[in-house]
Formats: sequence, C-alpha cells, structure tokens
Amino acid sequence: MRTAIYPGSFDPFTNGHLDVVQRAARLFDRVIVAVAKSDGKHPLFTQEERKVFIQQSTAKLSNVEADVFDGLLVNYVQKHSAQAVIRGLRAVSDFEFEFQMALMNRKLNDSFETIFMMPKDTYTFLSSRIVKEIARLGGDVSTFVPVQVQAALTLKLGGAKA
Ligand code: PNS
Repeated sequence: MRTAIYPGSFDPFTNGHLDVVQRAARLFDRVIVAVAKSDGKHPLFTQEERKVFIQQSTAKLSNVEADVFDGLLVNYVQKHSAQAVIRGLRAVSDFEFEFQMALMNRKLNDSFETIFMMPKDTYTFLSSRIVKEIARLGGDVSTFVPVQVQAALTLKLGGAKA
C-alpha cells in the first residue's frame, strides 16, 4: 500500500489543487489530502469547512480522502506510514520555500520523500489568495474553484457572482 500525504492550507481548495490530487491519485494507492490548521494565516474558512470542500470535490476519486492535522507534518506522515508528501509547484517563485520545507522535513524525518507535481499549465496563475481577492471584489471565480467552494465563497464574502 503506497500512501501519499498532500498537505496544505487549502483556504480554499482550488481547481489547481484538484488537478494535483488527480495526478497523485494515479500514482498512489491512497492519497490523504491533509488540511493544516494554519491559524497564523487567519484562514477564511475553518479547518473543518476546508476539509468538507475537499471531500465534496474529490468524491469521485475512490482512493482519495480528506483529513485535518495540527502540529508537525512529519509526525502526521509517520502516523499514517506514508511514503511521500506531495506538493504542487506552479512556478519558480514557489521553489525556494518548497525546497526549504522539503529539506527541513527530511532533516526531521528521513523516511519519506517530498514529490513535486506541476498542475495543468492553465492553473499556474491560480492561488487561494487570489481567488479570495477576486471573490471579495465580486469577480467570477467559477472556473477557478469547485462548485461547492464557489457557493461557500458567495455565502461568506457576499460579493461573489454566481
Ligand atoms: O498551503 P500552504 O499554506 O503553503 O501549506 C504549508 C504547510 C501547511 C504544508 C506547511 O506550513 C506545514 O507543513 N505546516 C505544518 C507544520 C510543520 O510541519 N512545519 C514545518 C515545515 S518545515
């Protein structure tokens, strides 16, 4: 059983995240999308809300599940005996932080690999932060996020157009 953990804040889960999940699900027997608490980032959605969006958006992928975690990622990876951590890499600008995190995680626990996956090129410009900004200003985010997330953004921020 090859298990991969795909960790992130997912505030909210976007179609770019979904694209990475779909790719990972083809490579691993089990993919756990793990929502970090990320309190320091003052998330718009609660950790549980973010988890439910992922469950709804990945319902058709039988080997994908969503979970929440707090504390060190390496401890969560160990708890699930996972072989890999998946991270999406959109552009060179992502690289420095991702490289630092991957190597620090390796220092903390050398038993798993960090694997970087590139989402479809049409999603390289996409980020949760930009989606929230567009929604907040009343822009159309329907092509950027799963339908459940779009509805929740409309409820939470009001300004988003359906
Ligand atoms: O989507 P994000 O916010 O870029 O995800 C970052 C995340 C949640 C994967 C990272 O902050 C993390 O792993 N947090 C858990 C705490 C931890 O292990 N920190 C040390 C990382 S080297």
